[in-house]
Amino acid sequence: MRPFDGRRVLLVVSGGIAAYKSAILTRRLIEAGAGVEVILTAAAERFIGRVTFEGITGRPAHASLWDRPMAHLDLGLEADIVVVAPATANLISRLAAGAADDLAATAVLASRAPVILCPAMNTRMWEHPITQANVARLVDVGYGIAGPADGPLAEGESGPGRLLEPEEILPRIGRALETATGLRGRKIVVTAGPTRAALDPVRFISNRSSGRMGFALAEAAWRRGADVTLISGPGRVPRPPGPDVVEVETAGEMLAVLETALTDADILLMAAAVGDFEPTRTADSKIKKGDGFQLLLRAGPDLLLETRAFRERKGIFTLGFALETEDLLARGREKLERKGMHLVAVNSAVERDAGFESETNRITLINRSGRVEELPLAKKTELADELLDRIEASMAAAER
Ligand code: CTP
Repeated sequence: MRPFDGRRVLLVVSGGIAAYKSAILTRRLIEAGAGVEVILTAAAERFIGRVTFEGITGRPAHASLWDRPMAHLDLGLEADIVVVAPATANLISRLAAGAADDLAATAVLASRAPVILCPAMNTRMWEHPITQANVARLVDVGYGIAGPADGPLAEGESGPGRLLEPEEILPRIGRALETATGLRGRKIVVTAGPTRAALDPVRFISNRSSGRMGFALAEAAWRRGADVTLISGPGRVPRPPGPDVVEVETAGEMLAVLETALTDADILLMAAAVGDFEPTRTADSKIKKGDGFQLLLRAGPDLLLETRAFRERKGIFTLGFALETEDLLARGREKLERKGMHLVAVNSAVERDAGFESETNRITLINRSGRVEELPLAKKTELADELLDRIEASMAAAER
């Protein structure tokens, strides 16, 4: 069971322009399996109506201490997590002071669930020492702070103060809710995406990898409590918000960053489609079409092979992938042995709904004792959790 299934989220909305994003957050939470209760402050009701949230959650939204006696206690007590989004300077100051002057503040004060605040306000208000002191006070009592993001603000100004996007808030809620995990505190390195090898300053060879499988693994591992470093090659797909991301371009750069990241790692998830070939020479200036060009390629570094001895010495659990067009199982097994993996996820490069550029994948897992498990076609985001479940189980078995 993943963290949102059947979990109860109390969403407190205070009054800012960004309050509309909370409606989208509510929808995302419900899609992920959570039950959501919503409390609006009086100011929030001026920005967005109760009816919007009632339409999304299918239950009454709450705004007043006097609508339903004791609601302030029930709502906070029943919640598995309290999320305040947007959290205005005013609500933050009331929470920091322990105020109980409306339903929102009272419910947060009365709850014993973890609290995540997602601030949204004008930059000068955010940077004001009083707001910063209030935030520090709330951090001190264990409240999590998500954001604010830097960027254009409602008044035509720009700077820190924007509410995070719902897609950025969701994994943070997941991380706080995640209890069924053996990955908490583990250091996990994930590689993702393609690499590029330059022919000249404007041209390169690369491959069709989107990075989705690696990003899904990084996001799921982070949500499950791990410290995640994501080493990503260039690609269009947005990076997951939680992990530390290091952007690289060439296979050589990816290897250098990987070697450093592995020094204190427990697990490597090697999902990158590292380019196997690189040109024997890279021109310093743009090659003119009139000049003609003979392309000579040589093999580039194999990152799993290069790091094999170190990983084995340190006992770093390694998941690798094998992208094949034929003889899937035999080749997967061979790669697992040769490249020093504990688990190999074999996928076919010819199926339409799997592999590169697809949002779904069909994976066959092979472990060191030769056990084969076929996972059904699924979204890469779902497969990421399936893979992490298998990794947790085999690490737990190895530690017994
Ligand atoms: N890999 C790597 N370094 C490379 C190429 C691949 O570390 N230069 C890793 C991939 O990240 C993957 C595993 O090795 O986890 C297998 O990748 P795959 O492309 O299937 O294998 P190749 O080594 O490229 O072998 P082949 O070209 O023979 O299929």
